[in-house]
Amino acid sequence: MAVSICGTGSYIPSYTIDNNGIAALVDTSDGWIQERTGIRRRHIVDGETTVSMACEAGRQALTSAGVSAEEVDLIIVSTISSNMILPCAACEVQKELGAIHATCFDLSAACTGFLLAYNTAAAYLAGGIYSTALIIGSESLSNLTNWKDRGTCILFGDGAGAAVLKADDRRMYLPVTRADGAKGSALTLKSRHDWNVLDVKEKRDYDSDGYFMQMDGKAVFQFAIKRVPEAIRGVLEKNGVRQEEIAWFLLHQANRRIIESVAKRLGEPMEKFPVNIQEYGNTSSASIPILLDEMNKKGLLKSGQKMVLAGFGAGLIWGAALYEWI
Ligand code: UT7
Repeated sequence: MAVSICGTGSYIPSYTIDNNGIAALVDTSDGWIQERTGIRRRHIVDGETTVSMACEAGRQALTSAGVSAEEVDLIIVSTISSNMILPCAACEVQKELGAIHATCFDLSAACTGFLLAYNTAAAYLAGGIYSTALIIGSESLSNLTNWKDRGTCILFGDGAGAAVLKADDRRMYLPVTRADGAKGSALTLKSRHDWNVLDVKEKRDYDSDGYFMQMDGKAVFQFAIKRVPEAIRGVLEKNGVRQEEIAWFLLHQANRRIIESVAKRLGEPMEKFPVNIQEYGNTSSASIPILLDEMNKKGLLKSGQKMVLAGFGAGLIWGAALYEWI
């Protein structure tokens, strides 16, 4: 048993902030941001929520797959920025879409979240436990960003992407995923539920740095350019697939220079590494499914093409999976 991706969808907020808009907030410039990250602008929620974007992306993916909400028996939402803790975002999506037969849960693995949602759903489908899954990455990172910190606020954006997976009898590819919690301090965000460790004065100042994302950008950059090529080589070797068989490398969109460095280390042309970070910034777990949906809509994905999906980020967590487009 294996899985096929039979539909994709996405939702992008229409409100945007370009680099000049960021330069009005912090000491930076359009030139610096473009040169160091490849980002030109990002879309930011303006009325939308993580749940509402997940619903729209999920609805679109079901339509694209020709699958009814009632047929879905598993919904996984990957997010670190949900507006809802209870019920979980996946149950909210179920309610909104009318997916009355689905088992629902959220998954928290930051920028590697969509990859892990894919692996989790694939394992359930391959094991015969469920037959039709809706997996979604949805993030409102603008709510978790310190807009006074130029080291992070230049990078992130909001949006959602989704895919519908079905069990099928094609070949099953095994993923490679890893984590290194000991290096987790490179990218952190405290829960506001962590308040119980604060005294009253600290609670009053709760919007101090720890309650927004904090990042050692250099450390994350170095981790990514080393570990992502390793994971990609690892997943190819594990499945006996040659690198030249891969048509597309769909990487988490964190920084254009990270993607270029991975391409160089693998000895592959950038043409095989689609990039849309210029438009959306880093949307964490939404970046891979948004990219997948764009490529699908543009008709770039051809039957029989093999692709690698690779995620990396906070945790630290990273990994790669192989998929053959149906
Ligand atoms: O999704 C996964 C999580 N995140 C990532 O993958 C992010 C990975 N890291 C990065 O993308 C990059 O490290 C950043 C884009 C965050 C930073 O780029 P960098 O090339 O690593 O810059 P840097 O921190 O080494 O700073 C270089 C210089 C410094 O000035 P000096 O010391 O050379 O004079 C910084 O103070 O650039 C300065 N700088 C800035 N200047 C203008 C740092 N941030 C900015 C800024 N605008 N926003």
